[in-house]
Amino acid sequence: MPADRSFYITTPIFYPSDVPHIGHGYTEVAADVLSRWHRQAGDDTWSLTGTDEHGQKMLRTATANDMGPREWADKLVQESWIPLLETLDIANDDFIRTTQPRHEQGVAAFIQKLYDTGFIEAGDYEGFYCVGCEEYKQTSELVTGTGKYDGELVCAIHSIPVELLKERNYFFRMSRFTDRLLALYEERPDFVQPDSARNEVVQFVKQGLDDLSISRSTFDWGVPVPWDTKHVVYVWFDALLNYVTAVGFDGDEATLNRRWPATHLVGKDILRFHAVIWPAMLMAAGLEVPKQVFAHGWLLVGGEKMSKSKLTGIAPNQITDVFGSDAFRYYFLRAIPFGQDGSFSWEDLAARYQAELANGFGNLASRVIAMLTRYRGGVLPAPGEASERDLGIRETVRRAAVEADLAIERMAPHEAVAAIWTIVEELNGYITLEEPWALAKDPEQAGRLDSVLATAAEGLRALAVLLSPVLPKATAKLWTALGAEPALGLLLDQRLRAAGDWGKLPAGTTVQALEPLFPRIDPEVLNA
Ligand code: MSP
Repeated sequence: MPADRSFYITTPIFYPSDVPHIGHGYTEVAADVLSRWHRQAGDDTWSLTGTDEHGQKMLRTATANDMGPREWADKLVQESWIPLLETLDIANDDFIRTTQPRHEQGVAAFIQKLYDTGFIEAGDYEGFYCVGCEEYKQTSELVTGTGKYDGELVCAIHSIPVELLKERNYFFRMSRFTDRLLALYEERPDFVQPDSARNEVVQFVKQGLDDLSISRSTFDWGVPVPWDTKHVVYVWFDALLNYVTAVGFDGDEATLNRRWPATHLVGKDILRFHAVIWPAMLMAAGLEVPKQVFAHGWLLVGGEKMSKSKLTGIAPNQITDVFGSDAFRYYFLRAIPFGQDGSFSWEDLAARYQAELANGFGNLASRVIAMLTRYRGGVLPAPGEASERDLGIRETVRRAAVEADLAIERMAPHEAVAAIWTIVEELNGYITLEEPWALAKDPEQAGRLDSVLATAAEGLRALAVLLSPVLPKATAKLWTALGAEPALGLLLDQRLRAAGDWGKLPAGTTVQALEPLFPRIDPEVLNA
């Protein structure tokens, strides 16, 4: 596999101190759709997710729950975070926990290397710390609290009071990397995306970087600093390294070379860690910087970032229990331009489910299979000569496949779905205009009916392939109903970049009954 076709994508590793909400699910789904797409396109793909288990936030929530941090993390990872992947049908290749030996060893090796090469030295620091962010804050990032914290200085993201900390600890000499980072953003405009995120990072780094405190000695829940074990490694320095410790740093050179560098998907609140601190760390260690850092927006509820701490969190299974995992995946990728914030609403979800999934795609699939069964005994006919309209459908399919792939390349899954959806719309329009039910009444039109049914079935074949990264369950059912597997093989083995080639489903294929792909939802359930 040529190296330029390697695709390694990561999600942030989540603090398992709380249960997941749909904001976390959103990142998982986006990374999963992108990785399924690349995998099915034949790229050498690897997708990583996991949990960030050290640090004060974890320690404090564990203590508040009368548990040790390790036990607490084990419980939440097993009961909530691994099940999230199943709930959302995520096909990740690996799941890293920062308490695993492979990771802790890598962190120790990395920090030792930076110490040995003079990039780490001792110093004093005093500043305001937000445990929610696990980060020292500038005064400009703080606001005056209201309600319970009236008049106190609180973090603008978490709305909880910051703590004044004074510590003697180790510092990463990040200030040395200001110029190299600015040169990186200049030379590789795609390194940080979207442009709004890139501009923010450039403006921030232009002000000059400070050195970064990377050890703590006031608590011991972390990776010990190898040369001074009274300290543990700062949780972000530890966590960022998961992206390389999961793929062979330090010890498995071949895997590291095969996978690294990665595309990182992150929420915009953790952009600076990934686009500033992380590349500086890699530069110091003589490793390649990431391929790209892409910041997606926030899911908003009532205009604010949805969060558990503000009690606005919605659990992913509240949605999947009613609508299914495919609908969750489709909705968030379709409704929110990737990179922008988006407001979640049950009404919008229910409306899109009904109009786009049930009436648009699901109904199209059911109708075509039903007509093949009724008019041709369930056997796909050979098409006659193609009419203008038939050729129009072929062209729509060809164009949609090309455009969707280009959209995925530029990290715009919402545009990829929109491009594929042109096939759904055109095919529905085609059937309305061709009126196969009328053609079926006229024996002289038998050849024309064959063409219409074959065109519609071939369009569905392309849709099943192109939509499989987004709707894995529905497309698997459709693939079976089309009888495609005996002739063409497994759905997941269909090459995405060839999905727009016409005429793959052979005449003589036998279709099977198809249950509604997106069943009607009882309005009682929606109003409950
Ligand atoms: N543990 C760190 C990440 C370390 S990565 C080396 C962390 N964890 S987190 O659990 O707090 O957040 C993980 C991700 O969830 C972040 O990308 C964050 O932006 C995202 N989201 C949290 N709330 C969100 C929304 N309301 N909407 C969209 N994404 C949200 O930060």
